[in-house]
Amino acid sequence: MQFDERQFHPFLTEKEISTLVDSLAEKINADFGINDRLLLVGVLKGAFPVMADLIRRLHSDVEVDFVRAANHGKSLQGPGTVTLLKDISVDVKNRHVIIVEEIIDSGRTLQFLHDRLKAAKPLSLKIATLLDKKSKRLVNLHADYVGKVVDDQFLIGYGLDLEEKCRNLPEIHALKYPN
Ligand code: IMP
Ligand code: MG
Repeated sequence: MQFDERQFHPFLTEKEISTLVDSLAEKINADFGINDRLLLVGVLKGAFPVMADLIRRLHSDVEVDFVRAANHGKSLQGPGTVTLLKDISVDVKNRHVIIVEEIIDSGRTLQFLHDRLKAAKPLSLKIATLLDKKSKRLVNLHADYVGKVVDDQFLIGYGLDLEEKCRNLPEIHALKYPN
């Protein structure tokens, strides 16, 4: 067993996650045309399941790429330091770009990635996230496509990890007693 079931309770079933991804795709499909050649940039590692499920629901031509960032100083109130461990390998200039995340917490990681991609002059730049811990935001960052706003709690499964485990759980579980 990957996690102690006594410490977690079921939070979102596979079906519920699927419905949230449907809603993300519906909004994106409404905003972009078939010929818009979207570039989806997934934030590793956690975003790969939602990325895989999302692209299969999109009607536009889709290209995918991935970035990986590390957020040091998460508990600090200061600006924190986000470093890039893997950059994108596609020219975003004149492309419609959507950054794809599984969850936003402080927003620091995405603010860093958003500013970096913005500087490369995309035609448009949006943020899609399956989950949003909106109350935890430490920076002014707005997500354009949000599956579900969630309370401040520790979640695992569907890409979300507990020290690198549990990403492969098909459903999402929440920690009962945050310490
Ligand atoms: P931020 O820079 O504080 O917004 O951090 C966002 C990243 O922290 C996400 O992409 C996740 O990788 C990770 N994260 C945030 N909340 C959780 C959680 O509840 N479980 C697992 N990982 C999380
Ligand atoms: Mg992530």
